[in-house]
Amino acid sequence: IRLFLPRDSVAEALGAGAVAAALRDGAARRSEAVQIIRTGSRGMLWLEPMLEVDTPRGRIAYGPVRAADVPELLDAGLLHGAPHRLRLGPPEELPWMARQTRLTFARCGVTDPLSIEDYRAGGGLAGLAAAIAAGPEATVDAVKLSGLRGRGGAGFPAGIKWNTVRLAGADRKYVVCNADEGDSGTFADRMLMEGDPFTLIEGMAIAGLATGASKGFIYLRSEYPLAAEVMQGAITVARGAGLLGPSVLGSGQGFELELRIGAGAYICGEETSLLESLEGRRGVVRAKPPLPAIHGLFQRPTLVNNVLTFAAVPWILQHGGEAYAALGTGRSLGTLPVQLAGNIRHGGLFELPFGITLREVIEDLGGGTRSGRPVRAVQVGGPLGAYFPDTLLDLPLDYEAMAAAKGMLGHGGIVVFDDSVDLARQARFAFEFCATESCGKCTPCRIGAVRGMETVDRVIAGHHPRQDLNLVRDLCEVMTDGSLCALGGLTPLPVLSAINHFPEDFLPRVQAQA
Ligand code: NAI
Ligand code: SF4
Repeated sequence: IRLFLPRDSVAEALGAGAVAAALRDGAARRSEAVQIIRTGSRGMLWLEPMLEVDTPRGRIAYGPVRAADVPELLDAGLLHGAPHRLRLGPPEELPWMARQTRLTFARCGVTDPLSIEDYRAGGGLAGLAAAIAAGPEATVDAVKLSGLRGRGGAGFPAGIKWNTVRLAGADRKYVVCNADEGDSGTFADRMLMEGDPFTLIEGMAIAGLATGASKGFIYLRSEYPLAAEVMQGAITVARGAGLLGPSVLGSGQGFELELRIGAGAYICGEETSLLESLEGRRGVVRAKPPLPAIHGLFQRPTLVNNVLTFAAVPWILQHGGEAYAALGTGRSLGTLPVQLAGNIRHGGLFELPFGITLREVIEDLGGGTRSGRPVRAVQVGGPLGAYFPDTLLDLPLDYEAMAAAKGMLGHGGIVVFDDSVDLARQARFAFEFCATESCGKCTPCRIGAVRGMETVDRVIAGHHPRQDLNLVRDLCEVMTDGSLCALGGLTPLPVLSAINHFPEDFLPRVQAQA
C-alpha cells in the first residue's frame, strides 16, 4: 500500500517526520506492507501534515494528522481509505484544489521530488525536448509569445530579457536563478524547490540552451536547508539522467548547474548584489546600467530570473506560448502562484490565472481571519508592498491594477491583518526593515531609513505629529526618487499607503496635538 506524506518544511515543522515513523511502526505491528513516499506539499498548509493513501478509487487524503492520531487511523481502516473524522476525501476535489489551474505546481505534492521516473511520467522533460527540437530562437519566441513576466516581483517581460542574453556576444554566458526568497509572507520558491526541483532544473536547462549559456547557478537563501538538500539531490539525479552535463538530453549542447548558498542578507535577492555575492564579495548593489543581461556575472551576459519564472517555462515549451497567454488578464498573462499568510484561517499556496480579486482570495479561499475579527489591512508584495484597506479588497491581482492602486504585486505574497493592527507601527516597521537590510551604498536609503524610523517614532509619541508626518512624506519622496535600488526606492510604498489609507492611526496623535 502506497502512502504519500509531505516532507516539505511546513509539514516537517508540524511533525510529519513523527507521523511517518508512527505509520511505519503501526503498519509493521499489523503486518501490513506500506511504502511511504515523501512528497512536497500541495499547499493547504492548515491541513499539514496531510497524508494520502493510494486506493483503487484514487488517492484519499487525511489531515491534519498528528503522530498520536496514527494508531486510531490505522484501526479505522486508513490503509483502505475508510471514513474517519480526519478523512478529507480525494485531494483534487477539495475546494482549494478544485479552484486552481496548476501549471507550475502541477506535480508539487503529488510526486516524489527526487524521482526522475515520476517526473517523466508526470509530463516532465517534454518542454526541454520541445526546446531542443525548436532551437534557441524559436524557444525564446515561445517565451515571448507566452507573455511570461519576471515572477520575482518586477514583472519584466522574460522573453525580452532572454533575447538580450541570447543576442549578446561573449565567450561565456551564465544563467542565474534567484532563489533568495526574502519577502515576508512568500514561500512559493521554497515549496517548488522542495516539492518539484526538476521543474526548476528543466527550466534553467531550457534557458541555458536558448541563450547559449553553458553554466548555471542557483543562489539559495541559507534559511532554506531542506530546499538546499532536495535541490542538491535533484542536481545529482539530473546529471545521472542526462538532463545536465556535456550533452543535455543528447542535444550536443552542454549545461551544468551549481547550487550556492547565501549568508542571510535580504539585499542579496537584488540581482546585482546577488551577483557580487556569487563572485565572492559582500552583497552590495551595483549601479545599473550596465544590465546583468549584458554585463552580469564575471562581466559576462547573464540571465537572472526568479525560481517561478524558470519553473513556468517547461509548461510553456510543452504546450506553446499561446496556450499560456490564453490565461490571465491584460498584460498579466498565465498563472500566478499566490501565497496567503498572516492572520488567515486557511493559509497556503494556490496557483491560478491573474485577475482574481483580493476579496475572493481572502474570503473564499482563505476563509477570513484566523482570529475571527474583521480584516482591516492587507499587505501585498512583501515588506516593500502597500497596505490596502478593506474598501480596496475588490482590486484584482494583476501587475497593472496593483500599480494603479499605488501598490505592487511583487512575488505574489499576501499578508492579512485584522482590526487589532496599528498601521503607524507597521510604517515604522517598514523603515526599520529598510535600515536593517540596507546595503549602505546610497544615502537616501542608508540614512533615510534611520531618520524615517526616528520620525515615525516621534509621530507615535505625538509631540509634533503634523509636522513630523510632513517630514515623513518629504523623506519618502527623496527615497523614491534618489535610491539606487528597490529596497530604498520601494520602502515608501508601505509607509505612504499606511498614512494615506489609515490616517486614523496617525491622526489621533495629530488631533491630540491640535
Ligand atoms: P527592475 O525593474 O530594475 O528590473 C527587473 C529585471 O529586468 C531585472 O532583471 C533587470 O536587469 C531586467 N531588465 C530591465 N530592463 C531590461 C532590458 N531593457 N533588457 C533586459 N533586461 C532588463 O527591478 P529589480 O530591482 O530587479 O526588482 C525589483 C522587484 O523585486 C520589486 O518590484 C519587488 O517586487 C521584487 N522583490 C522581490 C523579492 C522576493 O523575495 N522575491 C524581495 C525583494 C524585492
Ligand atoms: Fe543599498 Fe539601499 Fe541604496 Fe539599495 S537603496 S543600493 S539597498 S543603500
